Amino acid sequence: MRVLKDIEALHSWRRDKQELGFVPTMGALHDGHLQLIKKATQSVDCVLVSIFVNPTQFDQQQDLETYPQSLKEDLALLTDAGVDAVFVPHEHHIYPQGHRFDICENELSRLFCGAHRKGHFTGVLTVVMKLFQLVRPDFAYFGEKDYQQLQLIKAMVRDFFLPVKIIACPTVRNQDGLALSSRNRRLSPEELNLAPMFYQTLIDDDDIESKISRLQALGFRVDYLQVYEDHLLAAVYLGDVRLIDNVPLNKS
Ligand code: PAJ
Repeated sequence: MRVLKDIEALHSWRRDKQELGFVPTMGALHDGHLQLIKKATQSVDCVLVSIFVNPTQFDQQQDLETYPQSLKEDLALLTDAGVDAVFVPHEHHIYPQGHRFDICENELSRLFCGAHRKGHFTGVLTVVMKLFQLVRPDFAYFGEKDYQQLQLIKAMVRDFFLPVKIIACPTVRNQDGLALSSRNRRLSPEELNLAPMFYQTLIDDDDIESKISRLQALGFRVDYLQVYEDHLLAAVYLGDVRLIDNVPLNKS
């Protein structure tokens, strides 16, 4: 596996590649990421993963500073997964002139997670646009766990006529239903015990108000629980760790 540390290295590696699959990540890889990568390696000859903790999508400096990093373990996992190359740029490669330009969406990005994390999706869309321009992938893989992010990236690709096909991958959960997330590493053992109740409550038969009361009674701080199209989207805090999840609504 090639480790590409700057844009020059990426361009010269990219030059003789035909069909390319791309999995953008912020590292601290877990099985959720690895399922995206598996889908990519099974369907495309050549797969590139990026690891870049994108500062512009963090609305809280503390969240950025405490975001888990495990590059050595990540590189070992990616080698085992049969990835062809990993792009690990530095901030000044991606933002050479600071933060002058933005991709700003004016509707969905302001709701749900966007209402509570100002500028978050502008940061996400801007970095994904930059990565797409650099990597020029034919296919790019995103998880349904970040449902709003997935919808916004699909919309950006459509609206800017980007020549990439977005492949959505199902949410990977542990045995008790908790959606895997890099941030789960920051949960205490007690919080980790409680965390699966987030998903269990989302899928129970209660109405939204009862679900909110139940989560609050259990000790979650509820950020939002709202229906968007055919999905129930939710974000909660356990201590200072923010968890998000979503479930399809029954189409009965
Ligand atoms: P990150 O949180 O590292 O996630 C990278 C990709 O893995 C995203 O597409 C995300 O939806 C997917 N993913 C994470 N946990 C998952 C799970 N449990 N099941 C399925 N897929 C999962 O999302 C980002 O990074 C960033 O916003 C990024 C798109 C890289 C832009 O900086």
